[in-house]
Amino acid sequence: MANISEIAPNVYRISVYYPAAHLQFNHFLVKDDEPLLFHTGLRGMHREIREAVSRLMDVSDLRHISFSHFESDECGALNEWLGAAPQADVICSQVGALVSVNDFMGREARALADGESFSTGKYRFRYCQTPHLPHGWDAGMLFEETEKTLLCSDLFHQVGDVEPITSDDVVGRSYEAMKAYQAGLLAEYVPYTPLTAQNLKKLAALQPKTLAVMHGSSFAGDCVRALNELDTAFREIFGRLEPASPES
Ligand SMILES: [Fe+2]
Ligand SMILES: [Fe+2]
Repeated sequence: MANISEIAPNVYRISVYYPAAHLQFNHFLVKDDEPLLFHTGLRGMHREIREAVSRLMDVSDLRHISFSHFESDECGALNEWLGAAPQADVICSQVGALVSVNDFMGREARALADGESFSTGKYRFRYCQTPHLPHGWDAGMLFEETEKTLLCSDLFHQVGDVEPITSDDVVGRSYEAMKAYQAGLLAEYVPYTPLTAQNLKKLAALQPKTLAVMHGSSFAGDCVRALNELDTAFREIFGRLEPASPES
């Protein structure tokens, strides 16, 4: 059964731990006049996540579904969710809508440009386009402007069945996870491009108070510092010129 924790006012983290990958998959439900789900989750986890959402609200009342980039854990169960909540719109980047999402759904997404915003009632979300951060041409994030929560997808990825929210060193934990991944199948998780530092600076300029993290603990604390330190960690791990060797 998925674990539910409120990590910021009306932001519920619905977490499924997958032991085979030693990894949590976290989905965020924002309860408001027009409820929003960020990350649909994998198709294989849909039943479990939907059951968790139904503990918090009537699933058919969902009005917005959003995610960072086109990947199964981000949006694999999109069509299952649209079956359960047909009135919901799907919010993603313009690139995402054009190259994947519209075709995948057989309908039009609500494609947002960088900086565009929308309201769910009490809360207001700004779309932040972050190409190739964490990965994917179509990547972006949502920033909730009232409580200053950044829904930051795969950034700060940590392994293990960890606590819902922490003020500990998430950058250090994420650095260790990325380093370990570099030795295996999941190497090159984040492409370090000339845009990486710029994207992270743009997110830091929002001055978030909470980071809603897809894999691992969410973070409450000095988020500006964490985002700046994440750039240093990414540059060290992913910014070199040589390809990763399996032994490294
Ligand atoms: Fe991803
Ligand atoms: Fe992910």
